[in-house]
Amino acid sequence: MAFDLDAFQTAAREKYESLAACAVLYYERHSLVELARDFLILWYLLGWVASLLRVAYAYGPVRSATMLYRRWAKRFYRAVLKLPIMRRKVDSEVREVKKQLEHSLLVKASTSYNEVPEYGLTEKEVIDKLDELSRLKAANWKDGKLSGAVYHGGDELIDLQSQAYHKFAVANQLHPDAFPGVRQMEAEVVSMVLRLFNAPESGCGTTTSGGTESLLLACLAAREKARAERGLKEFEIIAPKTVHAAIFKASQYFNMKLHLVDLDENYIGNLTQIRRLINKNTCLLVGSAPNFPHGLVDDIAGLSQLAVQHRIPLHVDCCLGSFVIAYYEKAFQKALDPFDFRLPGVTSISCDTHKYGFAPKGSSIIMYRSNEYRKYQYFVSTEWVGGLYGSPTLAGSRPGALTVGAWATMVYMGDDGYTKACQDIILTARRLRQTIEEEIPELQIIGNPQLSVVAFRSDKLNIHKLGDMLGKKGWHLSALQHPPALHLAVTKLTVPAIDTLLLELKAAVKQLALEKTDIQSDTAQLYGVANSLQTGSVADQLIGCFLDTLYQTEPTL
Ligand SMILES: *Cc1c(COP(=O)(O)O)cnc(C)c1O
Ligand SMILES: *[C@@H]1O[C@H](CO)[C@@H](O)[C@H](O)[C@H]1NC(C)=O
Repeated sequence: MAFDLDAFQTAAREKYESLAACAVLYYERHSLVELARDFLILWYLLGWVASLLRVAYAYGPVRSATMLYRRWAKRFYRAVLKLPIMRRKVDSEVREVKKQLEHSLLVKASTSYNEVPEYGLTEKEVIDKLDELSRLKAANWKDGKLSGAVYHGGDELIDLQSQAYHKFAVANQLHPDAFPGVRQMEAEVVSMVLRLFNAPESGCGTTTSGGTESLLLACLAAREKARAERGLKEFEIIAPKTVHAAIFKASQYFNMKLHLVDLDENYIGNLTQIRRLINKNTCLLVGSAPNFPHGLVDDIAGLSQLAVQHRIPLHVDCCLGSFVIAYYEKAFQKALDPFDFRLPGVTSISCDTHKYGFAPKGSSIIMYRSNEYRKYQYFVSTEWVGGLYGSPTLAGSRPGALTVGAWATMVYMGDDGYTKACQDIILTARRLRQTIEEEIPELQIIGNPQLSVVAFRSDKLNIHKLGDMLGKKGWHLSALQHPPALHLAVTKLTVPAIDTLLLELKAAVKQLALEKTDIQSDTAQLYGVANSLQTGSVADQLIGCFLDTLYQTEPTL
């Protein structure tokens, strides 16, 4: 039958007319209030559908479907785990793990003080107790067998830091008038680090208690900026899924939605996905240089371009890279891909002075391109009964002695000291990478790590079992998931220990290859809780259990 255009047009007109008639009828039958209500509901629904479509477009149909499935599966498992029979089973497994945790964590000295002692101890008694407590160890970090954790700059440096602490033990940065020397040192520490990351003249920043606080502040400042300047009410962050957990924390604390982006074939954030996820609520892009899990640097130049194009702030997490990435160019006469303020889109950078800056723990810097960004991290109250109050970071009182420790460390190390440390650390990481690539075919390096962290996985062995075997030899490599892998963050302490590690790694791989174990690996290896629980649904209970155990003075099981 031929297509009858006239008939179609007539039908369409009739339909349209009846549709219009419906609308008129609807309009006549409803009050203005009802119409407004319906309009708002429709508007809200359309917005919701649009944001759903946008996410589906960014992740692609397959990935979106799995994300949706995972979310529902998780809810389903949660519900199932609440059933009485299941709950009993889970409780007994959690109990078992708790027993192991108490056994491994509650390593204690001969006497304990669960209450303030009735009479104070003498100085000698206290020092003796401290000696005993410092001898308790589960992991021998001094042998360089612990990944990351202790970044240590040598014994003389520790003496220097102790003296610095002694001189400024009572200093509080909340009272700059009482401690002008500390104020000067804080300003100088920030200025030195700004230079290292090629900040423009307008660059500024503050010291913080650590990388987590720096990242929290970067997110908070971005949120407040978006609220003040763009009038946003909802806030979204876009970051590769390898971004540090502190960004997850910021998302939760500050009620910002976090879009986690998949990795591309080089194991760094997929830029296409990032571009597609950007919308009117996006108030921050985050990239890492490098990230914690795999030690890889995201495409910061690509992110910078997106940031400029869409006028969104971009934070670069150099917490881990810290002075190793900052001194790379000097140490090897070779530039890395750009990652710092030289890229126009980079608006903030975090750098942990307590990592490869070798400052005492509790020291990090958050930097901004200008005060137009930093001012939004400040807290100001003019109404408090306690008086006018202003505080630059999350903490109120701040231990000035730690900033002094960072200052003393930086001027003691100097460019020459940091350059040498950077060379030693990176050459050691390269040896680990090369040995695995050339001599251990069972293991595969993840991505192209150029800095201090090297991560590897295996398509033949159970990688977490390998981690356990190395653990028995005293090595503590970090256990990663999605995909299961191990990583070593090389520190100054690892440099002399690398030969032993390579020998023991090869031996362990050989031994494991002989045992026929399945490659499947559980995700409950977090915090070294290696056990049989396969489902991620119980993992959160286990982590809570781990945290509870930390504050126990006595075992309960
Ligand atoms: C260590 C680290 C941080 C911050 O961790 P803190 O423990 O709070 O100092 C942030 N990002 C990366 C990539 C890190 O490795
Ligand atoms: C990056 O993401 C886009 C959009 O989801 C997808 O089409 C593309 O295949 C991804 N690239 C890689 C390498 O995974």
